[in-house]
Amino acid sequence: MKVNPKNPEKSKIKKAANLIREGKLIAFPTETVYGLGANALDSNAIRKIFRAKGRPSDNPLIIHIYDKNDIYFLAKNVPKTAKKIIDKFWPGPLTVVLKKSELVPKIATGGLNTVAIRMPKNKIARELIKEAGVPIAAPSANIAGKPSPTLAEHVRKDLSGKIDLILDGGSAKIGIESTVIDLSAKKPVLLRPGGITLEQLKKIIHIDLHPILQGKKSKFVSRSPGMKYRHYSPIAKIILVEGPRQKVDERISHLACMYGKKRKRVGIISTRKRFHDRTHMVEYIGNNPRQIAFNLFKTFRKFDAKNIDIVLVGGIQRKGLGLGIMNRLGKAAHKTIFVQ
Ligand code: TXA
Ligand code: MG
Repeated sequence: MKVNPKNPEKSKIKKAANLIREGKLIAFPTETVYGLGANALDSNAIRKIFRAKGRPSDNPLIIHIYDKNDIYFLAKNVPKTAKKIIDKFWPGPLTVVLKKSELVPKIATGGLNTVAIRMPKNKIARELIKEAGVPIAAPSANIAGKPSPTLAEHVRKDLSGKIDLILDGGSAKIGIESTVIDLSAKKPVLLRPGGITLEQLKKIIHIDLHPILQGKKSKFVSRSPGMKYRHYSPIAKIILVEGPRQKVDERISHLACMYGKKRKRVGIISTRKRFHDRTHMVEYIGNNPRQIAFNLFKTFRKFDAKNIDIVLVGGIQRKGLGLGIMNRLGKAAHKTIFVQ
């Protein structure tokens, strides 16, 4: 169902909100990616989310709220830092993990005693939560392991027949998911880089990167089960090449040639308009982090539509949105090659 993203039609929002209250599954746009929503207080409805996505039951969901103060229903022992961050970044692409209250069903938190909460900015999302009158649990609206959907069409491809309604509000503005920070322990920890940058957060609070984000092994994976799963992967095998720009380009050209000879269908993700190569498919995704984030998951899905076998992509700087982009590329990649 098409909905006007600037001025969502009341009747359409009402219809979707009624379905949420009845325990149904509704996909809806947020400013980051499309979410697959259900009543966060209804265990049966939440169970359907896991089933539709094929999501492991220990991977917890984000609960979306309309009003900042709703965190006090869903969480307990909310620290002062949480208030500070929320006042600065909500509504927006930031998720905070807090100690859960009794109100939140365990199935929503994958059995953890913490809960992830976010107040989205997208108008359709906001109107839907407000009208439903309940918080909405919503993971990204893709089959588990696939790239997150940034268009209603992606949701339809992945979940058609398994869910009750898709609200089509056009393209998600940011294109990668929200930043997730854990505020349930003494010191804030970044669990997933995303729409709000680490630099923005550091202006307000002291925050550590989770060891896994620093490339270390960690026994604390259980703090964010999402970290242990491979993610965002198209069918094509992605090869990420990192290093000095010219060397990266040389290696990509070399690999394109080599896989071409092996009769593979090769694609290249390029951050420059012109990339001279005789590959099957070159996709320009923009020359700055904002554009790259916007196009990233869309581009993954385009390669699959053209049956590409191998996708070659060069790394970008882990600065600003670049940290989140490189996190997604790293998790999607079949392998990463470092050149010097
Ligand atoms: O931008 C977004 O965050 C989108 C839109 C729809 O809001 N949602 C999204 O949800 O990306 P999902 O389920 O695809 O990713 C949620 C991430 C997972 O990595 C999950 O492990 C983590 O948040 N998470 C959820 N609850 C958690 C908790 N209690 N503790 C630690 N990590 C948690
Ligand atoms: Mg997801």
